[in-house]
Amino acid sequence: MLDAAKIKQDFPILAKLVYGKPLVYLDNAATSQKPSSVIQTLVDYYEGYNSNVHRGVHALSMESTQRYEEAREKIARFIGSPGSENLIYVRNTTEGINLVANTWARANVNDGDEILTTEMEHHSNLVPWQQLAKARNATLRFIPVTDEGTLDLSNIDSLINHRTKLVAMTHMSNVLGTINPVKDLTAKAHAVGAHVLIDAAQSVPHLPVDVTHLDCDFLAFSSHKMLGPTGIGGLYVKSDTLEQMEPFLTGGEMVQEVTFEGATWNDLPMRFEAGTPNIAGSIGLGAAVDYLEALGMENVHQHETEITQYALQALKELAEEFTFYGPTDPARRGGIVSFSSPHVHPHDLGTILDQAGIAIRAGHHCAMPLVRDRLGVAATARASFYIYNTTEEVDLLVTTLKDALRYFSKSLSLP
Ligand SMILES: Cc1ncc(COP(=O)(O)O)c(C=O)c1O
Repeated sequence: MLDAAKIKQDFPILAKLVYGKPLVYLDNAATSQKPSSVIQTLVDYYEGYNSNVHRGVHALSMESTQRYEEAREKIARFIGSPGSENLIYVRNTTEGINLVANTWARANVNDGDEILTTEMEHHSNLVPWQQLAKARNATLRFIPVTDEGTLDLSNIDSLINHRTKLVAMTHMSNVLGTINPVKDLTAKAHAVGAHVLIDAAQSVPHLPVDVTHLDCDFLAFSSHKMLGPTGIGGLYVKSDTLEQMEPFLTGGEMVQEVTFEGATWNDLPMRFEAGTPNIAGSIGLGAAVDYLEALGMENVHQHETEITQYALQALKELAEEFTFYGPTDPARRGGIVSFSSPHVHPHDLGTILDQAGIAIRAGHHCAMPLVRDRLGVAATARASFYIYNTTEEVDLLVTTLKDALRYFSKSLSLP
């Protein structure tokens, strides 16, 4: 079990007062806070060995190249990748998915093919496939979401069929908290010869994730959601697929030989990393991985399961006023609780909570089709937890929500 109160001390921003009140940060699904060790790693880079990678023969460049590649090895190991050449540095999950859409998918998805995704995707794992389907005259199909907020797999054997070229699905929903059975679905997709992309933006930061065990072809994640800096993330690609992929962006760094007429490509994975990369960010993400590994990802997941169950239990008091979304089974959900009320707009709730120092997210969470069309609301309020959140913070959330409800709807008979 993690000691969240102790962990909190590693995060300078969590000592901050907001409107004179201690900050309670419950917007971790949007981005996480950063421990001192990650912040110091960035400072050390800029103060100690800032220089470009893979080019210089001088001491600073050799040091930055070594740390940059060591970080890649560490991050690759963290997600169970068989080698570091399978891990492409990208800016974030969105860029990783777009890279796949613009390279492998453009070359392999053709007229009449199907791309299967789900009704619970973030726009990042939906819009690139809409664009690709239009460009390649392919059909985009959806695994429906049940009323409980899980994937409805009753029709899966017809949804995954011989026309399916790609299954692109989220490992964990950023709205519902649902953890999807991605390993089973990957096996089904492979059985018909389809490739599988996993949007792991919400899973790599919170659960043990092993790409070899999942057997997926692509997996994308963002550093900023897992204690690391912004502007860096990872795209894992399985070796046989990676070797066949043509470059995405072209220019410096990704070439081996250039003539006036043409160019040959650099080794993997540099072939997919055109231009000067986010060197500090990559090394900073390596430091974030060190921090998470020291805690143990099983422990991280367990802590979040416990705090989510505590929150769901405590929030039951407000069950008459709020609809809560997502599975009831703790084994099927991560540390995200979304809710809405017919009487109070989530933005108003967010503003009242903010006055109490509590940061939550209100809106469609970049999943408009799910929130608006499937859940049938314009927006939800969302509290999302991480390693530094405590049960006392959940208690404060519940008390402040009660105050907010009293304020907005004086006629409600609330405890
Ligand atoms: C499930 C999911 N996918 C993709 C993204 C996009 O991540 P990024 O903005 O870091 O590219 C997010 C961010 O909230 C997310 O929650």
